[in-house]
Amino acid sequence: MSINLIVICYNVNHIILFLFFAIYHKYLCFGLVASPWYNIYIFPSFLFIDIIQYIKRNNDYSERILILITSILEVKDLMKAVVVKNLSYRYQSEGAEVLKNLAFEIVQGEIVVLMGLSGCGKSTLAYCLSGIIPHCWSGIMDGEVLINGKNTREFGVARLALEVGMVFQNPDTQLFSPTVEDEIAFAPENMCLPPVRIRERVDYVLDLLGIGALRDANPYQLSGGEKHLVALAAVLALDPPVLVLDEVMSQLDQVGKKNVADALEKLRQQGKTIITVEHDLETVNFADRIMVMEGGELIRYDRKEILLADRDFLAACRLV
Ligand SMILES: Nc1ncnc2c1ncn2[C@@H]1O[C@H](COP(=O)(O)OP(=O)(O)O)[C@@H](O)[C@H]1O
Ligand SMILES: [Mg+2]
Repeated sequence: MSINLIVICYNVNHIILFLFFAIYHKYLCFGLVASPWYNIYIFPSFLFIDIIQYIKRNNDYSERILILITSILEVKDLMKAVVVKNLSYRYQSEGAEVLKNLAFEIVQGEIVVLMGLSGCGKSTLAYCLSGIIPHCWSGIMDGEVLINGKNTREFGVARLALEVGMVFQNPDTQLFSPTVEDEIAFAPENMCLPPVRIRERVDYVLDLLGIGALRDANPYQLSGGEKHLVALAAVLALDPPVLVLDEVMSQLDQVGKKNVADALEKLRQQGKTIITVEHDLETVNFADRIMVMEGGELIRYDRKEILLADRDFLAACRLV
C-alpha cells in the first residue's frame, strides 16, 4: 500500500475514524501514523481538501461526515477555499497598479459579495481568482492566489476550471454554442462524461436556475440577464467547488434575481464557495461576508450584518 497521506493521531478515536474514512471511501492509498504524545495532526492540506471534495461529490452524508471530521480534528483552518497573498496586478508593465497588495482568505462554503465603485478592480480580482490572470492576460501579477490549496500559477486554465468556474461580466465572451443545451453540455462532453451523466447535469442546472424553457434557445438571441444565467449554467455543469460571478444579477429582473439567489443558497448548502460581484445592496442578503474595494485596495472585509449596519462607512464609500 502506498502512503500519500500521513496523519498523526493522538488518540484511538482518530485512528478508528480515519480507518473508517479510508475503507468506506475506498481510499486505500492511505498511510496512518499514530503518536500518543502529540496533540496534532500533520498532512498536506491540498490532499485533505481533495478528499473532502471527493466525499462531497460522492456521498449524500458528506455534510455530516465533514462536520464530524472537522469538529474532531479541528481542521477548519485547512478548509480555506481561497487564499490570496500580497496580490498586485498591472495590465501593462509600465501601467498603474490595478490591484494593490490584496490579502484575504475565504472559508469553504461561504458566499462573499465583492462590492466597490466602477473601476476599483472587481473584475480584475475576479480574473485573478479564476486563473484567467495570469494565464490569459499578459500583465504583471505579483503575489499568489491559491484555490483549494492549488496555486493558480502552477496549474493551467483547463485544470483550474475543475476547481473554479467564472461567469464574466460580459457573458457574450463565453457563449459560443448554437443552443443553450449544447452550451451547458460542452464542458462535460469535453471531459468525456457518459451521455447519461451529461444529460443529468444539463437537466439539473437548467432546473436549479429555473431556465428549463430556454433549453433549445439560441444563446445569442437571449436577453443580457438570460445570457448570464446560461453562462452560469454552463459553469455549473462542471460542478466546480468555487464559483466567481461577475455582476450576474445586474441585468436580471426581480424573478431572475430571486432564482439566482435561491440557486446560490442551494449551492452554498452543497458546500460551494461563491464570490460574487454585486453593486446593489438590496441583492446581497444571501451573502455571509462582504468585501469592499476602493482604488485597487481591499478596504473592508466583514460579516454582512456588521457591514450593512455601518451606514457611515457605506455612505463614505458611496455604496448607499
Ligand atoms: N484590459 C485592460 N487593460 C488595461 N486596463 C484595464 C483593462 N481592464 C480594466 N482595466 C483598468 O483596470 C481598472 C479596474 O478595472 P475593473 O477590474 O474592470 O474594475 P471594476 O470591475 O471594479 O469596474 C480600471 O481602471 C480599468 O480601466
Ligand atoms: Mg467589472
